[in-house]
Amino acid sequence: MKKMFLFLTAALFISCSSHKSEMDKFVDDLMGQMTLEEKIGQLHLPTVGFDVTGPRLSEAVEQKIKDGQVGGVFNTYTPNAVRKLQELAVTQSRLHIPLLFGYDVIHGHRTIYPVPLGLSATWDTELIRRIAVAVADEASADGIHWTFSPMVDIARDPRWGRVSEGAGEDPFLGAEIARAMVQGYEQGDLSKPNAIMSCIKHFALYGAAEAGRDYNTTDMSRLRMFNEYLPPYKAAVEAGASSIMTSFNEIDGIPATGNRWLLTDLLRRQWGFSGLVVTDYTAIAEMENHGVGDKAQAAAMAINAGVDMDMVSEYFIDELPALAKAGKVKQTTIDAACRRILEAKYKLGLFADPYRGINEERAATQIMNTEKLALSKEAAVKSIVLLKNDHRTLPLDASKKIAFIGPLVHDRCNLIGNWSAAGNPQQAVSLWSALENKFAGNTFLYAKGCNLIDDATLRDKLNQHGGNIIPDSRSPQQLLAEALQTARRADIIVAVLGEPFGMSGEAASRSHIDLPGHQQALLKALKETGKPVVLVLMNGRPLTLTWEHDHLDAILETWYAGTRAGDAIADVLFGDANPSGKLTMTFPRNVGQIPVYYNHKNTGRPFNDKEKYTSKYLDVSNEPLYPFGHGLSYTQFTCSAVQLSDTTLTAAGSITASVTIANSGDCAGEETVQLYIRDCTGSITRPVKELKGFQKVALQPGESRQITFTITPEALKFYNADLLLTAEPGEFWVFIGGSSATENKATFTLSL
Ligand code: NOJ
Repeated sequence: MKKMFLFLTAALFISCSSHKSEMDKFVDDLMGQMTLEEKIGQLHLPTVGFDVTGPRLSEAVEQKIKDGQVGGVFNTYTPNAVRKLQELAVTQSRLHIPLLFGYDVIHGHRTIYPVPLGLSATWDTELIRRIAVAVADEASADGIHWTFSPMVDIARDPRWGRVSEGAGEDPFLGAEIARAMVQGYEQGDLSKPNAIMSCIKHFALYGAAEAGRDYNTTDMSRLRMFNEYLPPYKAAVEAGASSIMTSFNEIDGIPATGNRWLLTDLLRRQWGFSGLVVTDYTAIAEMENHGVGDKAQAAAMAINAGVDMDMVSEYFIDELPALAKAGKVKQTTIDAACRRILEAKYKLGLFADPYRGINEERAATQIMNTEKLALSKEAAVKSIVLLKNDHRTLPLDASKKIAFIGPLVHDRCNLIGNWSAAGNPQQAVSLWSALENKFAGNTFLYAKGCNLIDDATLRDKLNQHGGNIIPDSRSPQQLLAEALQTARRADIIVAVLGEPFGMSGEAASRSHIDLPGHQQALLKALKETGKPVVLVLMNGRPLTLTWEHDHLDAILETWYAGTRAGDAIADVLFGDANPSGKLTMTFPRNVGQIPVYYNHKNTGRPFNDKEKYTSKYLDVSNEPLYPFGHGLSYTQFTCSAVQLSDTTLTAAGSITASVTIANSGDCAGEETVQLYIRDCTGSITRPVKELKGFQKVALQPGESRQITFTITPEALKFYNADLLLTAEPGEFWVFIGGSSATENKATFTLSL
């Protein structure tokens, strides 16, 4: 009861922000003039314009806007297009209510930054916040008020194509990144003309789709939800996110879009969320396929669960009038949903200026300007992860004869990745053009080597959604022969390979996650030349690279690095930038290991190679190929033993854990120092390690620095069997190092 009071006060407090009296009065007045149909009209969000993600475009949308039957639209941008539709709403609808304009601005609007999985590999939350500010500036100049980002779904299954859209597998890092993005987009004040409304998605647990198959069922215990999957959504709510999107999956047998426990009990009552809940694309209609009822039942279930806005389905505008009249949906429920949408518009300043922030001049100066392009390159450089580098193969020596081989050497189309909003691949810098800019008159060799994929059926599928994959007129044998001829003339081979961008993202699950087509065959042939082979990867998920790791000299993971990808990769390859990215998702050895993640439980029979009856495989190790947090540098870092300020932590106290990090190599570099904790005994079992802190440190050769983390009982809390957030006394291990595999450890006791 006491807790409930606190939640209610929190909710009240949030809704009493600076605009309270004026906003409430304004919305009260407006709603006083609205018919039931007009209120329901505000709950309708159709897509207008170019759209590749869904099966239908809303018809006769212009008439609906005039009739007050549309609350917002998405997929329309540019000052011109937005002004045209907004004019319809504010001049021709009865109550002149402006529209909300949404868009999937996921990793940049026109200037494209690395895909979110790549961005998360920077472990640089301040950089990510700055990017969100820049993205909001660019998107708002193009007429957008609302982005469907950040995607904060924890993902442990690399078969799921949408891992590229999130921050990986860890709840702590995921929460930090979620916060940074929300703060960057919204800047604490939506009325700023260059702020946009964020939308946390997909609420909830979408990343746990069974078998990594998109849109699939999820089923998990509340303990796993609260401890492992929910923290990033909660962090984003606490950071002030103004909207949240429901997910396609079910939770406890009830579709998220109709799940009252999720949307009302947890989100609004427990977490105090007062913003707007929108469904994912046609998610209300999909409830019929889930098997929970007919059209009217789906609409009633969604609004009664806590949904405010219906993306695309049109179930609300079709069904709610009759449902309200029949008393199956209360008028007050519809009023509450309508109010939240009007409040969002009010906070964005749309009633004061429906054309906020848009004019051609602003668009011309803000979109793809020098600062944003520089930021895109900075992010691309920092997202690159050096997975392997034997014999210091990298950085490359430009005076050597270097053969660049692969279908991605000249490519622009794939560099900006999936969900690249209004990004134009033709404006991306390819690796080859970056090399030409960097080394005028260079004599680098080039051969295509193979197609990205050879399977015609797959190619057709990807091309139906903008894949632009054109098979070479030469046969695979001819391409290979030409590549080998070129490779033989070189001192070193750089193979630039990966997935076409459409192989990750929405509806892009894979059951094999190796390099597709003839790419591995090409690598094997190149290796047989006896020359050192560097693999530069462009892809949107962890791949299985076991053969590549065992046989190649160096591997550089560049994800889809965005508009300045080529420049960033060239700088890293030639040592003008030192790679510092760290993986945020485990790379498995093979698909059979999935799910494989660092913060797993110990089991009663932990892995032991010498004992048969322990938890392991007969045919593959338990260890992943590359663990969470892994990433090398051109220099070496050494880390001292962990020093604790005390071996006992008390309820009101804190202790520090310190290490000294030294750059023992011969060039400047940046290390991400990671703090993991293990709670050795508990009332419920606890993971073998959990990330609890990280710090980035830049060091010159020979330089060293002490890195200190403060540990309080707060950091040791977890949700117990009663779902209470609590810390329990006992022994804890502290690990500090350069990846989750670190064994550099000290022990302390929590005494309460
Ligand atoms: C479906 C996707 O799941 C979601 O992430 C996206 O924001 C919407 N479509 C709108 O395009």
